[in-house]
Amino acid sequence: MGLLDHHGKIERHATLLLVLSFLVVSIGGIVQIVPLFYLDNTIEKVEGMRPYSPLEIAGREIYRREGCYVCHSQMVRPMRDEVERYGHYSLAAESMYDHPFQWGSKRTGPDLARVGGRYSDDWHVQHMIKPQSVVPESIMPSYGFMMNRELDRSDAEKVRDIMGVYRMLGHPYTDEMMDTAVTDFFAQVEPFGDPVADRYPGAQQRNFDGQDAVTEMDAVIAYLQMLGTLVDFETFVPDASR
Ligand code: HEC
Repeated sequence: MGLLDHHGKIERHATLLLVLSFLVVSIGGIVQIVPLFYLDNTIEKVEGMRPYSPLEIAGREIYRREGCYVCHSQMVRPMRDEVERYGHYSLAAESMYDHPFQWGSKRTGPDLARVGGRYSDDWHVQHMIKPQSVVPESIMPSYGFMMNRELDRSDAEKVRDIMGVYRMLGHPYTDEMMDTAVTDFFAQVEPFGDPVADRYPGAQQRNFDGQDAVTEMDAVIAYLQMLGTLVDFETFVPDASR
């Protein structure tokens, strides 16, 4: 009697088939799940990743409010066409300070995970005011109103509250960062202000929208120009031990 005949027996007994299938699926499940209990962290540490600066958080909140994620993803998949177009594929660590994550599920516009530094601030201002002025065939809506929406102390304090929540979730904001949150918020648009990069390495500090007032446009551009720039992929080596 061959092996296949035994299998015939199993296939003719519904209960036996059910019990044995359950056994096989359980073993498969255990093999996948149990190792996770013995890992402290499933996200490999990557040099350069840091929690967002106060102004970047404000920009990120506006990004969420305006639903930019409906048309834009923030995740470069490890496939050749994507990597050639957008740059190095996204790492888990690059989303570790995103609550909620901004991977998105649809690309009406391009992926933004590595848009930082790709365009000048001026380009972003023009593009946000009238996308068609820089990309004639664009179907992106205008967000020019952000130029007129000033951010004041209460907005900065709101961001500090958000930082408090992030801290509860384990983001490494120090007491110093909490204390300086409001001043850092405004300093980041002052080219000669107190250097925000002391606390947020790699934070870009300048007048992003070219206006005297601190506006939502400043915050959004500060956020966009940071995206994908924190990890240095010239020196990044994937940890093969995982
Ligand atoms: C209705 C869909 C839609 C929404 C909503 C939308 N965009 Fe876009 N976006 C596009 C399209 C399409 C393009 C490509 C054409 C262009 O550059 O304008 C684009 C391009 C861009 C680019 C240039 C990317 C590149 O690599 O060339 C940036 C930056 C950008 N969008 C930011 C934003 C931000 C920030 C928001 C929210 C405030 C937003 N978009 C909302 C559709 C959208």
